[in-house]
Amino acid sequence: MMNPSRSYFIFFFSLIFNTLASPTHQRDALLEFKNEFPFNAPVSVPDVYIYTSLSSWNTSSSDHCSWDGVTCNANSGEVISLFLENTYLNGSLKANTSLLKLHHLQNLTLSSCDLSGEIPSSLGNLSHLKHLDLGGNHLIGEIPPSIGNLDQLTFMRLESNNLSGNIPSSFANLNKLSHLTLSENQLSGGDLPLILSNLTSLSELDLSKNHIKSKLPSNMSGLHNLEVFAAFGNSFLGNIPTSLFMIPLLQKVFLSGNQFEGPLEFGNTSSELYLLDLSSNNLFGPIPESISGFLKLESLDLSHNNFTGSIPRSMSKLVSLQLVDLSYNKLEGQAPSFLWGLSSLKLSHNSFSSSEESLVVNGSHSDDLSSYSFQRSSQVDIGSNSLHGSLPRWICKFTSLIFLDLSNNHLSGSIPSCLMNFTALGDILLRNNSLSGSLPEIFTNATKLRTLDVSRNQLSGKLPKSLINCYSMEYLNLKGNKFKDMFPSWLNSLRELSVLFLGSNAFYGPISSHFRFPSLRVIDISHNSFNGTFPQNYFVKWREMSIVCVNDSKHLCNVHMGQYLFDDSMDMMYKGVDTKFPRILYAFKAIDFSGNKFTGRIPKSVGMLEGLIHVNFSRNAFTGSIPSSLANLANLEALDLSHNKLSGTIPRDLARLSFLSYLDFSHNFLQGPVPRSTQFQSQHCSSFEDNLGLYGLEEICGQIHAPEPTSGDSQQSEEFSSQSEEVLSWIAAAIAFGPGVFCGLVIGYIFFTSHKHVWFMEKLRRNLPGGIITVR
Ligand SMILES: *[C@@H]1O[C@H](CO)[C@@H](O)[C@H](O)[C@H]1NC(C)=O
Ligand SMILES: *[C@@H]1O[C@H](CO)[C@@H](O)[C@H](O)[C@H]1NC(C)=O
Ligand SMILES: *[C@@H]1O[C@H](CO)[C@@H](O)[C@H](O)[C@H]1NC(C)=O
Ligand SMILES: *[C@@H]1O[C@H](CO)[C@@H](O)[C@H](O)[C@H]1NC(C)=O
Ligand SMILES: *[C@@H]1O[C@H](CO)[C@@H](O)[C@H](O)[C@H]1NC(C)=O
Ligand SMILES: *[C@@H]1O[C@H](CO)[C@@H](O)[C@H](O)[C@H]1NC(C)=O
Ligand SMILES: *[C@@H]1O[C@H](CO)[C@@H](O)[C@H](O)[C@H]1NC(C)=O
Ligand SMILES: *[C@@H]1O[C@H](CO)[C@@H](O)[C@H](O)[C@H]1NC(C)=O
Ligand SMILES: *[C@@H]1O[C@H](CO)[C@@H](O)[C@H](O)[C@H]1NC(C)=O
Ligand SMILES: *[C@@H]1O[C@H](CO)[C@@H](O)[C@H](O)[C@H]1NC(C)=O
Ligand SMILES: *[C@@H]1O[C@H](CO)[C@@H](O)[C@H](O)[C@H]1NC(C)=O
Ligand SMILES: *[C@@H]1O[C@H](CO)[C@@H](O)[C@H](O)[C@H]1NC(C)=O
Repeated sequence: MMNPSRSYFIFFFSLIFNTLASPTHQRDALLEFKNEFPFNAPVSVPDVYIYTSLSSWNTSSSDHCSWDGVTCNANSGEVISLFLENTYLNGSLKANTSLLKLHHLQNLTLSSCDLSGEIPSSLGNLSHLKHLDLGGNHLIGEIPPSIGNLDQLTFMRLESNNLSGNIPSSFANLNKLSHLTLSENQLSGGDLPLILSNLTSLSELDLSKNHIKSKLPSNMSGLHNLEVFAAFGNSFLGNIPTSLFMIPLLQKVFLSGNQFEGPLEFGNTSSELYLLDLSSNNLFGPIPESISGFLKLESLDLSHNNFTGSIPRSMSKLVSLQLVDLSYNKLEGQAPSFLWGLSSLKLSHNSFSSSEESLVVNGSHSDDLSSYSFQRSSQVDIGSNSLHGSLPRWICKFTSLIFLDLSNNHLSGSIPSCLMNFTALGDILLRNNSLSGSLPEIFTNATKLRTLDVSRNQLSGKLPKSLINCYSMEYLNLKGNKFKDMFPSWLNSLRELSVLFLGSNAFYGPISSHFRFPSLRVIDISHNSFNGTFPQNYFVKWREMSIVCVNDSKHLCNVHMGQYLFDDSMDMMYKGVDTKFPRILYAFKAIDFSGNKFTGRIPKSVGMLEGLIHVNFSRNAFTGSIPSSLANLANLEALDLSHNKLSGTIPRDLARLSFLSYLDFSHNFLQGPVPRSTQFQSQHCSSFEDNLGLYGLEEICGQIHAPEPTSGDSQQSEEFSSQSEEVLSWIAAAIAFGPGVFCGLVIGYIFFTSHKHVWFMEKLRRNLPGGIITVR
C-alpha cells in the first residue's frame, strides 16, 4: 500500500502536470494565438488567391485537434503541427506569442499569411520543430541566430520575405536540414563556407534572389546529399568550385546572374546533373572538355559570359541534351553539327564563322545527313555571328523547325526552296545578311508563320504570291532590299498582320484603296517609288490604328498576338533618328509614307487613327492644306510633313497636341502664323524653314542663349553638333538677306571653326529684322 500522503502528493503533482500539458491548456494557447491577430478574416485578393481564416478556432467546438490546420498527438492531445498556409493573419509574431506554449510543435507552416514584423528570437525555443515554413509574407529584419538552435529541423523555408542581414552562423548547427529555402529576400551574406561545410544533410539549397556578396566554399564535397543548388540573382564572386560539380547526387544547378569569374573546370565528374545554368556571370576561358562527364545533361545555359574558343568536341557524347544556350559569348570556329538535333539551340552573339556541314559519326565525317534525325529540332538561333557563305545545307533537314534566326551574319546566296517543307515554322529571321535572288515560292503551307524578316539583304524581284497563305503572319519586314513590285494589296488575307515594313525597296505604283489589314499597327513604306493620290476616306477602315492604347498592356491594346520565343526589335526612322523599338511595344502605332511620289491631298481620314504616335508623310509631292483633323491625334509624338508642296496655314488646333515633341513643316509653301504652344515653341527653327510665309517664329528661332563672345569653353563645343543644323539654316537665312550679311557669314565661318558659333548666331539674330523667315 502506498503511503496516503505520498499518493496524494503524486496525484497533486500529476494534476498540475496534466494541467500544464493538457488539451485545455493547448486549446487556450491556440485561442490566444488567434487573438494575437485581430484582423484575421477571410479575404479574397483579386487575381491572387483566397485567404482562409481561423473561424473554426472557436469555443463552440471543444476539440481543438479538429480545428483547421491543427494536428495533435493522438494519445496526448498535444499540438504537433500547425498548417496555416494562406490564412489571413495580417499582423506580426510577438516575442511572447502563445505559439511558445505549444512545446511539442514539430511542424509550423505560416506561409502566405500576410505576416509582418520580425521573426521573434523566441521561436528558437520550439526545440522540437522539424519543419518551419514562413515563406509569401512580409517579414523584415535579420534572421535571429536562435533559429540555429532548432537542431531537429529538416525543412526550413523563409522564401519571399524582406529579411536582411547575414545568414546566422548558428545555421551551421542544423545538420539534419535537408531543405533550406531563403530565396527572394534582401540577405547580404554570412559565413557561407562555415555554414555550408556543416550542412551535410542538405539536398535542396535555394539562396536565389538576394544580395549575397560572398564566395562559395572551395571545398563543397561535404554537401554529398545535395541535389538542387540555386543561388541565381545574387552577387556571388570568385570561382565556381570544381568540388560542387563532383557531388554525385547533384541534379540541378542555377547560378545565373552573379559575378562568378574565372575559367570553369568540372573535374572528373559523373554526376546526375541534368540542368546547368551559369548564364550572366563573368566566366571566361574555354568551355572545359570535362563537360562530357555530365552524361545526363539535358539543359545547358552558359549564355552572357565571356567564354572563348570553340565548342568542345566532347560535348557530342551528351546524348540527352535538349536545350543549349551559349549565346552572348566570344565563341568562335565552327558550330558543330552534333548540336543540330537539339530541340533548342541558341548560339547568337558569338563569332562563329561557319557551321559544320558534314555530320561526324563515330569520329569520321559523313556527308550523308539523311540517316540523322532532326525531328526534335524546334528552335535554332545563330544570329549575330560571322557566318559566311550560303545558308547551311543542314537547314533543309529541320523540317519540324519552329524558329530560325540567322540574322546579322554575312550569309550570301539565295534562300533555299527546301523551306517550303517547313510547315511548323513560326518565325524566320534572316535580317542583315547579303542574301540575293528572289524570295522563293515557299509559303504555300506556311500557315503558322508569324514572322518573316528578310530586311537588309539584296533580295530582288516580285513578292511570292504564296505569301497569301500565311494567314498567321503578324510581322512582315522586307525593308532595305531591291524588291520591285506593285503594292501587295493581295495580302488581304493577312488579317493578323500588325507590322508591315516595305521601306527602301523599289516598289512602285499606286497603293490600292481597297487593302485593309485590320490589325495593322505600324506601316513603313518609305523610300520607294509609290505614286498616285489618296481618296479622302483612305484610312477609314484602319481599325487597329484608331484604337488608343493607354499603356502598353496587351489587353488594352487589343492585341491577340501569341508569346514570342525571342525579344526582337524593329527599327524605324523616328524623330529624325533611326531608332530601335521592341517589337512588342503594342502602343507604338506609326505610319511612314515618306520618300515616295505621292500627290494630291493628305487624306483627312488620317485624323481617325487616334492611336498614332508617329506620322511621316514627308518627301512626297502632297499638295493642298494640312488636314486639321490631325489635331485629333492626341497621342501623336512626331509629325513630319516636310519636303512637300503643302500650302495654306498650319492648323491652329495642332497646338493642342500635348505629346508632340518632334515636328517638321519645312520646305513647303505654308504661310500665316505658327500656332503657339509649348510643343511648337520648343521646336528647332529648321522645322519651319523654307516656307512661303510663316510668321511668329521669333521665340522659336531666337531662343539660343548667348554667352559673351570671349568665352569659348568646352561646353560650347559640345553644343556644336546639336545646333549645327540650326546654325546652317541661319546661314541660309543670311544668304537670303543679301551681301550685307555675307560678311557676317565669313566671320561666322571663322567662329564655327573656333567653336564660337553661338556668339555668331546671336549677332546674326540681332542684325536680322525679326519676324518672317523667307529663304526662297
Ligand atoms: C491589416 O492590419 C492593419 C493594421 O495593422 C489594418 O489597418 C488593416 O485594416 C488590416 N487589413 C485588413 C484587410 O483587415
Ligand atoms: C466555429 O467552428 C465551427 C467548426 O469548428 C464552425 O462550423 C462554426 O461556423 C464556427 N463558428 C463561428 C462563429 O465562426
Ligand atoms: C505580450 O507582450 C505584449 C507586449 O509586446 C504585451 O502587451 C502582452 O500583454 C503580452 N502578452 C502576454 C500573454 O504576455
Ligand atoms: C510535417 O511536415 C512534413 C513535411 O511537409 C510532413 O511530411 C509531415 O506529415 C508533417 N507532420 C504533421 C504532423 O503534420
Ligand atoms: C527562450 O529560451 C531562452 C533560453 O534559451 C530564454 O532565456 C527565454 O526566456 C525563452 N523565451 C521564451 C519566450 O520562452
Ligand atoms: C522591403 O524592404 C525595403 C526597405 O528595406 C522596402 O523598401 C520594400 O518596400 C520592402 N518590400 C516588401 C515587399 O515589403
Ligand atoms: C558543425 O556540426 C557539428 C556537429 O555535426 C558541431 O559539433 C559543430 O559545432 C558545428 N559547427 C559549427 C560551426 O556550428
Ligand atoms: C573536402 O572536405 C571533405 C569533407 O567535407 C574532406 O574529406 C576532403 O578531404 C576535403 N578536400 C580537400 C581538398 O580539402
Ligand atoms: C567580357 O570581357 C570584357 C573585357 O574583355 C568586359 O568588358 C565584359 O564586361 C565581360 N563581359 C562579361 C559578361 O563578363
Ligand atoms: C520536300 O520534301 C519532300 C519529301 O520529303 C522532298 O521530296 C522534296 O524534295 C522536298 N522539297 C524541297 C524543295 O526540298
Ligand atoms: C502542302 O501540304 C499539302 C498537304 O499536306 C501537300 O499535299 C502539298 O504538297 C504541300 N505543298 C507544298 C508546296 O509543300
Ligand atoms: C506612277 O508610276 C508609274 C511608273 O512607276 C507610272 O507609269 C504612272 O503613270 C504613275 N502614276 C501616276 C499617277 O503618277
